[in-house]
Amino acid sequence: MIHQLVYYSRNAVSGGDREMLTNMRDIVSASQRNNSRDGVTGFLIFDKTWFVQILEGERAKVVETYNRIGRDPRHTGATIINVRDVPDRLFPNWTMGGAMRTPEVQEVYLGHGIGGALDPAKLKSSQVIALALDLQAFEQAKRQPQRLVG
Ligand SMILES: Cc1cc2nc3c(=O)[nH]c(=O)nc-3n(C[C@H](O)[C@H](O)[C@H](O)COP(=O)(O)O)c2cc1C
Repeated sequence: MIHQLVYYSRNAVSGGDREMLTNMRDIVSASQRNNSRDGVTGFLIFDKTWFVQILEGERAKVVETYNRIGRDPRHTGATIINVRDVPDRLFPNWTMGGAMRTPEVQEVYLGHGIGGALDPAKLKSSQVIALALDLQAFEQAKRQPQRLVG
């Protein structure tokens, strides 16, 4: 069984878009390094106010990763929404995929009934996972080489 943990936290990265991007690059590169070592995969949704993250892997590794992340001063108030065991990973291809909320992905959020500000305290883990799967699909479609039709 794969252990799956969903949590949210408050983004404490100050500064503008540039600082945000630099910090996110650092977080994603540390995640890729550590998560590939630990067999942890998942997805990170974020905007200027919130992080919502899904972690999947062996139970001990997921707990260890979450505890390490929880001590990171770049966010505060990490709160677990749900933990459960699942038969298979939902995010197998990402050591840590991520999606910043930009105008480009707004349509994906709208598809999940999120038009305004994100309020993770009101989200169910099933909603987080459904949103992350769609964001993942959106990101993957962007990476595919575009083909001309006809
Ligand atoms: C929102 C958020 C998500 C993070 N996700 C991960 C993660 O999935 N895996 C990970 O190893 N570190 C993650 N980090 C970074 C850790 O808090 C920590 O900085 C890092 O694991 C330290 O790695 P190092 O000891 O290799 O430098 C995250 C940090 C934040 C703020």
